[in-house]
Amino acid sequence: MSIFDWTKYHMPVLQYFKEQAKKEKILKDKNIGIVLHLEKKTAILIEAILDSGANVYCASCNPLTTDQSAANYVKELGAEVYAKEFESEKEYVEFLQKIAEKDLDAIIDDGADLIYLLHEKEFANKNLYGACEETTTGILRAKQLEATKRLRFPVIAVNNANSKRLFDNVYGTGESAIAGILNITNLTLAGKVVAVFGYGQCGKGIAKKLKGLGAKVIVVEVNHVDTFGYSGIHKALEAYFEGYEVMDSISACKKADIIITATGNTKVVTEKHFNVMKNGIILANAGHFNVEIDVEYLEKNATSKREINKAIKEYTLNGKKLYLLADGRLVNLAKPYGQGHAIEIMDLSFSIQFLSLQYLIKNHDHLDNKVINVPKDIDITVARKFLELKEIKIEELTTEQKAYLKTSH
Ligand code: NAI
Repeated sequence: MSIFDWTKYHMPVLQYFKEQAKKEKILKDKNIGIVLHLEKKTAILIEAILDSGANVYCASCNPLTTDQSAANYVKELGAEVYAKEFESEKEYVEFLQKIAEKDLDAIIDDGADLIYLLHEKEFANKNLYGACEETTTGILRAKQLEATKRLRFPVIAVNNANSKRLFDNVYGTGESAIAGILNITNLTLAGKVVAVFGYGQCGKGIAKKLKGLGAKVIVVEVNHVDTFGYSGIHKALEAYFEGYEVMDSISACKKADIIITATGNTKVVTEKHFNVMKNGIILANAGHFNVEIDVEYLEKNATSKREINKAIKEYTLNGKKLYLLADGRLVNLAKPYGQGHAIEIMDLSFSIQFLSLQYLIKNHDHLDNKVINVPKDIDITVARKFLELKEIKIEELTTEQKAYLKTSH
């Protein structure tokens, strides 16, 4: 069994929906641009889309997250690939440009870089059905286009489906961010003080797994209301009742051995934080872009820097050593150590992607140029199929219970 057969074997939900799509031929001859972390699970999603009759043009959504074996695999299956392991930022931009130039019917994006590129003047006459967006940051950016009435096509908020956000962001990021840190550093987390910045979906998962491994967890939150109307103040309270220490960012930086950012925000850890950190601190980011830790400041102001391994960079600042993992990019996906989320988690997320793409192609005529939620029935169908294939049964409501629940007292 090859590693790709292994991955496919552990993505039975996607395989089920692929067989359906092949029969219905919804994707036949459609041109699909795919800009996702080009790793093994993504290769299986691309295979499902190709097998359903589409043409695929793909690139990675981050310069550090292409797995060369996955890129080779989909190339052999017939996808046009514009990505390579350890591509430069310049190559990353050029590759995205190549995808944007294709005659696309629809795209799948992660972080909205391609969505934004397709809004630039040179692509203004492109006429595509729309996009499916994978992550929190991408949805936020698409909503900014919508709010300023610039959004030129519908964007399906795949991230916001329950079958994605409640599992991928929480358990997926929780496990894989920690796996990334362990693989890169080969250090234990037990006994260490780890500050998690952002107690949203991803931060919650990271904190939970850290606790399980014996770390002393600190949570840093901020007074910000997310797109679901859930305030950072309540998140701080939730973290407190979960048993974590909750404090402001400077206090956390004074105590922490490791800092992990997962905010989707910019300049979260900056000069004022570096100045109070302990000697030997480890800095990692799990948020989408490499802007949460002020890497630019470190690059400009460090008195010396050196590479410990391909994913640990040592900066000397005011006589102290700071260790930055994966250049401040996604620590769970950055090569050579990151493998991304567990396969089963991505079976859920990519089944939602696959069905959302079909929904977009089938319904584009009557979708507005807005950020649109994944239809409830798709969300439920994927979760139900996952449970069914695991032979997990849930209860059915009795007629009496249904009537009771509808009763208002
Ligand atoms: P979320 O909106 O649920 O949580 C973000 C949290 O950060 C919020 O609670 C917010 O109040 C808090 N926050 C914002 N600015 C802050 C600051 N300056 N200090 C402390 N807390 C702050 O978002 P979610 O879904 O957890 O995503 C977070 C980031 O992770 C996004 O960039 C998203 O795209 C990315 N992501 C990464 C994944 C990975 O594989 N590493 C997987 C899924 C999402």
